[in-house]
Amino acid sequence: MLLIRDLAQVATPAGRAAPLRGGDLGAVEVFEDAFVLCAGDTIDAAGRMRDLPALDGDVVEIDGRGRCAIPGLVDCHTHAAFAGDRADEFALRAAGASYEELHAAGGGILSTVRATRAAGDEGLRDAVERHRGWMRAHGTTTFEAKSGYGLDRETEVESLVAVRDAGGIPTWLGAHAVPPEFPDADAYLDFAIFEVLPRASQIAEMADVFVERGAFDVAHARRYLEACKGAGLELRLHGDQFTEIGAIPLAIELGARSVDHLEATGDLGVRALADSDVTGVVLPASALFLGRPMPPARALVDAGAAVALATDFNPGSAFCESLPLCCSLAATQLKLSPAEALSACTVNAAHVLGRAGRIGRIAPGYRADIALLDADDWRYLAYHLAGNVVERVVIGGELR
Ligand code: NIG
Ligand code: FE
Repeated sequence: MLLIRDLAQVATPAGRAAPLRGGDLGAVEVFEDAFVLCAGDTIDAAGRMRDLPALDGDVVEIDGRGRCAIPGLVDCHTHAAFAGDRADEFALRAAGASYEELHAAGGGILSTVRATRAAGDEGLRDAVERHRGWMRAHGTTTFEAKSGYGLDRETEVESLVAVRDAGGIPTWLGAHAVPPEFPDADAYLDFAIFEVLPRASQIAEMADVFVERGAFDVAHARRYLEACKGAGLELRLHGDQFTEIGAIPLAIELGARSVDHLEATGDLGVRALADSDVTGVVLPASALFLGRPMPPARALVDAGAAVALATDFNPGSAFCESLPLCCSLAATQLKLSPAEALSACTVNAAHVLGRAGRIGRIAPGYRADIALLDADDWRYLAYHLAGNVVERVVIGGELR
């Protein structure tokens, strides 16, 4: 058994329900002077030290004095399967070039496609493992990662396998951009659906599409997503990042798990999402990195939508693997409370990944995934802007 004892606080989203909506999102239970007890890969008990049961047998003890335990963070939206970087483009953007202009000029996503294709299987695996290490250092114990920088059969499959082998949850982002060897989106989707999907659907759990002017329109996205659904994949969409062109209605129509970004979402979209079972995933690091408007997270929560918070970690629009930084942005820019931010990147993110019964809380029966904070108030997670707040993580009952 593993016992983390004498913690200043244990903080966890209350109850067992998922997803959390409205007022429930901010219901975080806090135990002061507390412990967490893990049996194998599962949480056995958590609570106040005075309620610690008598233990016999082998117990490994960790001194938690001056520290807090929160559930291991769940990053439900990353593009960690990439090689190379876009530091040059970053500098060009700082000098005034826009993300859309770089994309239209064959840079952007397509420049990372070139680097990822050139990296080879080994290079891609090394990159994913390196990125996983960065995420872990910031408290992420479960991550989803998308392909979408291969856009040929071999590199897409290698990306999904690299994510799976690194312990991540693979999503096939087969419709991210049209690669240069195809004349148009229709021709590329023929290839993706008939040549890549049969293999991708054996590795990935979910499929995703970039619904945007200059990428894929709603008709393209419907065709791609229906084929993916037919192959047994759960559905995600990148929608309303720059323009509202119908991603939310399509996500609802097809029963998608989530629609992600939402920087351009207006009142009608907020209401439609609130009345649906589709989770809205907000990515404030991406809005910050591109200098775009923030998504209407406060309005979504208040309207009763299920809202999750993720990094969007990728080399172009959000070179940021830190969910604690996203919690800070949630509190300062999105006007979510620290408690709402915590639930959004634990329970609700786990819900998007179809795992809410097993991860995202510190409670008996949940997987023993814990982030230990170097702070005596768990709200430092959001409060310590870009601070090095995560001291270490426990994953499946093992200290990392
Ligand atoms: O979620 N918007 C589309 N895809 C990614 C960015 C990809 C890139 O710029 O490399 C996103 O922001
Ligand atoms: Fe993304």
